Amino acid sequence: MDVGKVFPVYEKPHHRLLQMLSPKSRKKRWFREFRALNGISFQVHRGETVGIVGRNGSGKSTLLQIICGTLAASTGTVVTRGRIAALLELGAGFNMEFTGRENVYMNGTLLGLSREEVHARFDEIAAFADIGEFIEQPVKSYSSGMFIRLAFAVAIHVEPDILIVDEALSVGDEAFQRKCFARIERLRDQGATIVFVSHSAGTVLELCNHAILLDHGDLLACGKPKDVVALYQKMLYASAEAAMQLRAACLARMNGTGEDESALPPAALEKPRIDDRHEDEAAHFDPGLVSRSVLRYESHGAHIEDPHIQTLGGRRVNVLSHGEEYIYAYTAVFDRVATGVRFGMLIKTVAGVELGGAVSSPVQDPIAVVEASERLHVRFRFRAMLAPGTYFMNAGVTGRIGEEESFLDRLVDVFVFRIPPDSGRIITGFVDFHVVPEVSQALQVG
Ligand SMILES: Nc1ncnc2c1ncn2[C@@H]1O[C@H](COP(=O)(O)OP(=O)(O)OP(=O)(O)O)[C@@H](O)[C@H]1O
Ligand SMILES: [Mg+2]
Repeated sequence: MDVGKVFPVYEKPHHRLLQMLSPKSRKKRWFREFRALNGISFQVHRGETVGIVGRNGSGKSTLLQIICGTLAASTGTVVTRGRIAALLELGAGFNMEFTGRENVYMNGTLLGLSREEVHARFDEIAAFADIGEFIEQPVKSYSSGMFIRLAFAVAIHVEPDILIVDEALSVGDEAFQRKCFARIERLRDQGATIVFVSHSAGTVLELCNHAILLDHGDLLACGKPKDVVALYQKMLYASAEAAMQLRAACLARMNGTGEDESALPPAALEKPRIDDRHEDEAAHFDPGLVSRSVLRYESHGAHIEDPHIQTLGGRRVNVLSHGEEYIYAYTAVFDRVATGVRFGMLIKTVAGVELGGAVSSPVQDPIAVVEASERLHVRFRFRAMLAPGTYFMNAGVTGRIGEEESFLDRLVDVFVFRIPPDSGRIITGFVDFHVVPEVSQALQVG
């Protein structure tokens, strides 16, 4: 509760020594204070999986270290119940001079297992780490991937009540990451509490049921992963000024003084216009189905207008029939000359999982020049090969800014559509692969 952390920062290396030598009573201090965390308060309930996001240097690792007790808080307290296993910075908890095997024993007992318990689990740990003969080598000879394999194997096999992971998994190769996430999911399903830091929005959305956004040591948001990640992404791409405004609005909201929430998502969106001529076919347009999580990134010379889905015949719809073809369309308005222009679309699930999208042309073949005040109609024809459910769409215009291709305008969750349940098909997951099931009786032998 109310956790704060102040680090002493020394301007010159020898100031640290001077400070150590100077008597406590002396007024002169050889350091200045740096506040890495400002009175952070939140609760994590048993069995929750919490993702912590934030820019580099926002205080995520500091917070994790305080939670698992490797760093003392300057103010406030942390209360935890149960066995904590942590994967923090690479190297923490392992002794470089000892072999992998020795470290498994040391680390395991440090995490609360008896020697016998480690012994009983050793083979399983070694098998999970899957680093072969290296298990008998000093860990200083390990690659960072091997290191994290072993550290994760130990952490997961002590069956912690609380697992704390700081980015560590991004070091492993893809197959190992998948294996780790599967284990984390299993731990979670067994009721463990998981707190982890990740820069990957996808991972947070996939694994967490709660998320926290830190910024400059402040807790800016705390809530559903989809909302928190959206806010984080918006802040990442905002100009310094826009980011400051968002920050202020978030802080006000966190402190309960927020009146001006206009800068914050969920932003209101004007309802899509219904084409009057087709009132009779209202069954395919649900006026109540409106995105409440629209995010508009800062524009850099272009504006996307009127994103919508229509049938091939031009009727606007937001309730789509499974397997039919539709057109996702928007108008791009340019207020200055743009070069190397391309257009994009993306379909996502409610949880934000990116299912698929497209761009208007390959990267080497964009529209060379678009003049100022030009308006371009962009249309993406697609087939709704999706399971029944609600889906969100993004829209984006990219162009060259300097040497780089960047977004000229970008809208997240700008359009929402639904595929109603279809009694005839049994699709699980999100995508319809046109699976043809077949079950037949096996021949009885003998
Ligand atoms: N031992 C220390 N002494 C002084 N300052 C520190 C110390 N450890 C961290 N800091 C500072 O505290 C701030 C938060 O650091 P922290 O490592 O928690 O950030 P982070 O959110 O984990 O960043 P990243 O995404 O880069 O891992 C940073 O400005 C960092 O420079
Ligand atoms: Mg960190």
